Amino acid sequence: MTTQIATYTAETAGTWQLGDRTVNRIGFGAMRLTGMPWDPAPRSREGAIDVLRHAVELGVDHIDTAAFYFLPTRASNELIATALQPYAEQPVIATKVGPSRSRDGGWEPYARPDQLRAQVEENIRQLGRDHLDVVNLRWGSGLTKEAGSIAEHVGALTELRDLGLLRHIGVSNVSIEQLREALEVTPVVEVQNRYGLTERTDDDILALCGERGIAFVPFFAMGAALPGAIPGGAVDSTGKLEVAQVAAVHGATPSQVRLAWTLHRGAHVLAIPGTGDLGHLEENVAAGALRLTDDELALLDGVRLA
Ligand SMILES: NC(=O)c1ccc[n+]([C@@H]2O[C@H](COP(=O)([O-])OP(=O)(O)OC[C@H]3O[C@@H](n4cnc5c(N)ncnc54)[C@H](OP(=O)(O)O)[C@@H]3O)[C@@H](O)[C@H]2O)c1
Repeated sequence: MTTQIATYTAETAGTWQLGDRTVNRIGFGAMRLTGMPWDPAPRSREGAIDVLRHAVELGVDHIDTAAFYFLPTRASNELIATALQPYAEQPVIATKVGPSRSRDGGWEPYARPDQLRAQVEENIRQLGRDHLDVVNLRWGSGLTKEAGSIAEHVGALTELRDLGLLRHIGVSNVSIEQLREALEVTPVVEVQNRYGLTERTDDDILALCGERGIAFVPFFAMGAALPGAIPGGAVDSTGKLEVAQVAAVHGATPSQVRLAWTLHRGAHVLAIPGTGDLGHLEENVAAGALRLTDDELALLDGVRLA
C-alpha cells in the first residue's frame, strides 16, 4: 500500500457504535494541535485548523479533546470550535473532566464530584455545543493509575447526563476494579487508557471492554510517551526490529504499524492518534487500511519492552 496518499479515508478502518452514534474506528486526538508546553513555539493557529478540517474531510468523525489541552495562546477546544463550526452531524467529540489546569499551567488532578458540572459546562462553552457527546472521567495525577473510588464522580456525571448536558459517560486512566465500579453505577461507552504494542498492561481491560461492548480507546498508541520515543523516525520508536520489519513489508511507517496493531486487537478498539501535522494525519488515517496477516500479528504480539 502507499501509505501517505489521502485517498485512504477513515472509513477503511471500519466503524463502531459509540453510544448513539456510529463512528469510524480511526479518530483524532486533539492534544498535539497546539504544540506542547516544552516545544520552542506554539504551532500555528492556521496549521491546526487545517489539520482539523482535513481530518473531517478524510472521514474522521471521532475527536478526543479536553479543556486542559491549552497553551497560553492556543486551546484545543477553541481550535476545534473555530475549525469545525457550524457543526454538521459529525463529529462525535469526546472530552475529559476531573483534572484542571490553571492559566500558569498548574495542574489540579482531582475535581470534587460537585465541581464536575462547571467543567462540563466549560467544555460546552468552549466547543460551542449545546451538550457533550462523550465525557470521560479522567482519574489520576499523572500517567500512572491511582487507586480510589470513582463511584461518586461517575454518579455526578449521571446527574449531568439526566440534565441533558452530556449524552454518554466514559472513564480514563482507570484500573479494572475502577471500571467495574463505574459499571455498577451506569453504562460506560468508552475506556481511554494508555495502551499500545509495548504498553500491554491493560490487556485485561481491553478484553473486558470487548465482552461488555465498550469502546477501548488507547492513548500513546504510537509510543509517544516512551523514553526517547521518536514516533516519526525510520526505525520504530523503541527500536523494535519486528515493527520496522512489518512496516517495510507494507511500505508503511512504524507508527502506522503500531496503530494498525491496536485496531487488530478487537473491533471495539478505536484509535485517536494525535498530531498537528498534515502529513502525519494522512498517514494515521491510512493506517486504518493496513491489514496485518496472522503471521505478522504473531510476530508483533511477541514484542515486549525489555
Ligand atoms: N486520557 C488521557 O489521560 C490521555 C493522555 C494523553 C493523551 N490523550 C489523548 O490521546 C491522544 C493521542 O495521544 P498523543 O497525541 O499524545 O500520542 P500519540 O498519538 O501516541 O503520539 C503523538 C506523537 O506522535 C507524533 N506523530 C503523530 N502521528 C505520527 C506519524 N504518523 N508519524 C510520526 N509521528 C507521528 C506526534 O507529533 P506530530 O504532532 O509532529 O505529528 C506526537 O509527537 C491525544 O491527542 C489525546 O487526545 C489522552
